Amino acid sequence: MRKKLLIGLTAVALAGVALTGCSSRASSASADTAVKKGDTVGVALPAKTSQNWVLAKASFEKALQGAGFKSDVQYSATVADQQNVIQSMVTKGDKVIVIAAQDGSQLGTQVAQAKKSGATVIAWDRNIMNTKNVDFYAAFNNYKVGQLQAQALLDGMKAKKPTGPYNIEIFAGANTDANATVFYNGAMSVLKPLIDKGELKVPSGQTSFQQVQTDNWDPKNSQTRMTNIITKSYSNGTELDGVLSPNDTLGRSIITAAQQAGLPVPIVTGQDSETASIPLIMKGLQYSTIYKNTDDEAKAAVDLITDLANGKKKPTGVDYNDKTNAYNGTITVPYKPLTPVLVTKENAVKAYANNPTLEKLATDNQ
Ligand code: BGC
Repeated sequence: MRKKLLIGLTAVALAGVALTGCSSRASSASADTAVKKGDTVGVALPAKTSQNWVLAKASFEKALQGAGFKSDVQYSATVADQQNVIQSMVTKGDKVIVIAAQDGSQLGTQVAQAKKSGATVIAWDRNIMNTKNVDFYAAFNNYKVGQLQAQALLDGMKAKKPTGPYNIEIFAGANTDANATVFYNGAMSVLKPLIDKGELKVPSGQTSFQQVQTDNWDPKNSQTRMTNIITKSYSNGTELDGVLSPNDTLGRSIITAAQQAGLPVPIVTGQDSETASIPLIMKGLQYSTIYKNTDDEAKAAVDLITDLANGKKKPTGVDYNDKTNAYNGTITVPYKPLTPVLVTKENAVKAYANNPTLEKLATDNQ
């Protein structure tokens, strides 16, 4: 009897030790994982499918250093590369991992590992889909980008030919990039009612996202598709008035396809304010672009991290309910938005006033 009691007491004591050990480990783990100044922030960038990604590395390094963090910025050409990059950031113990997804639907395992290690996960520019393991999303308002592009397309066509109906073609970005659907949805919110009314016609008949998306955001693919559409739907003299292009890289390929087919260049939209497109805009070959300052976008993410390092549980400027831009199929990710600016020949010099390189390009090509 006494022996049994003793064993029982020992068991309780042991359990107590185990429990205490456990709880003290848990509290020291959470103290360890909170980001502090001086920590390394991992930044996993995708393939350089447009100039903004090329600029992003320096923008992050500058912003992180300025805010007192170390930076580890890595590009990935493929999904598998990026999965490995994120895994190694987790292994290195990075306290914050910023991710611009190569494929937003294929990082579920990696962000789960990151969260399990105690890291904060920030989706940057592109959302990460179908997971609860994303803490924040910092990006330009992509739906607004699409709306601005569509409105520019209409304005440009109207300025050239005051009355419709107008013949247009529609291009979207890669179906692996969550942004591409949001740009498309924003643009279609403006265009679809006019297509339904017959004020806009799409002679190719291709209007659904899957029909108009461009694999890998690769301009070779958009150029081929534009050439095929011209051959099929415009070689009988039908006029092509405008093309909705989701970015500058694809826009230039669409302009090239029209030129090679011997068609007058239609109104073509864009995005990114790439240095190769600004002269085309100033010369009237490309109608519009969108300005999304990459330094500002990196700074938005770094400001979030700074708030977290300062112990702010709810960082400044975060919207918790923007389903249109930040719903990822599982949760509406707390979202720090930035405002995109539409740029045409008319406002280019003024729009680029905070960016000497772009301002000079606009001025020199006037
Ligand atoms: C970015 C655009 C870019 C595109 C292709 C998108 O996710 O938001 O700025 O043009 O990717 O690289």
